[in-house]
Amino acid sequence: MKKLAVIGSINMDVVTSVERFPQPGETLTGTSFSTIPGGKGANQAVALGRLGVPVRMAGSVGDDAFGESYLRNFRENGVDTALVRVCKGQTTGTASIEVNAEGENHIIVVPAANGECDMQWLEETLPALANCDIFLLQHEIPLPVVFEAIRRLHALGKTVILDPAPAAAVPEDVLSMIDYITPNESELRAITPTLGADADVQARVSYLLGLGVGCVINKSGGDGAYVATRAGGIKHVPGFKVKVVDTTAAGDTFNAGFAAGLALGLPLEESVMVGNAAAGLSVTAFGAQGGMPRREQLLTLLGEEWREKLAL
Ligand code: RIB
Repeated sequence: MKKLAVIGSINMDVVTSVERFPQPGETLTGTSFSTIPGGKGANQAVALGRLGVPVRMAGSVGDDAFGESYLRNFRENGVDTALVRVCKGQTTGTASIEVNAEGENHIIVVPAANGECDMQWLEETLPALANCDIFLLQHEIPLPVVFEAIRRLHALGKTVILDPAPAAAVPEDVLSMIDYITPNESELRAITPTLGADADVQARVSYLLGLGVGCVINKSGGDGAYVATRAGGIKHVPGFKVKVVDTTAAGDTFNAGFAAGLALGLPLEESVMVGNAAAGLSVTAFGAQGGMPRREQLLTLLGEEWREKLAL
């Protein structure tokens, strides 16, 4: 099996559940409050670890109680933490999240220690990841570092999966070096700004493939994903019908499931099915990592015929 690494953010999520989102200036009574592990990078690593897939996490936490409990959370989920740096005098990144009765969310991220993942950190970290094959990145550590990491990994012949979330533009030279990019619709717009506001999904996807992106996977929530390559055109891989409790980190869990499929050598569309199944299960429980499935849960949803394909 190919070796996986995540380079990215680690946040403690402070989550308030509420019937509906407040209007500006309005005070509402919430229904619950919890402090739970999150962060787009860490979520992807934990989702892989939960599936039983070996994974290295590279990122930073603060030297505070959140950082300490996060390191424990990684270990409990089978994530290799050798490259998680504890930054002295810094706090761990946080995300203030509101979840409404429909399972939708609003998120405000304070990067804190994630902001310490700078160029020097990258220089020190990359050699330790030399034996990894597939890299998962997102947009929650400083963007110049994410983009430089992609340039360096591409030059080394590594497979790069970029989740361009939160939405932000990506330089065209970097886009041309990405093997798999996994935007939702608003992120797709953000990574194709030169096309203007009126371009449709098809035009944006074609533009990215024209730049040299290997594969565009347009994540569409419960509808599944649209997978586009130059050779294969656009194909729809349907999602799974589930009862939604909390959609936080569904996209992160998709990327983890998809990467697990690739690491196991599954074909593209089957890897996307694994991503859809993992994401589907993830939204059935509260919290970013609450619903992330174990391998057996994934097999229950996908069917017994997948047991051999997903043999670790
Ligand atoms: O993708 C979900 C994540 O986004 C949350 O866990 C939160 O930490 C924010 O980073």
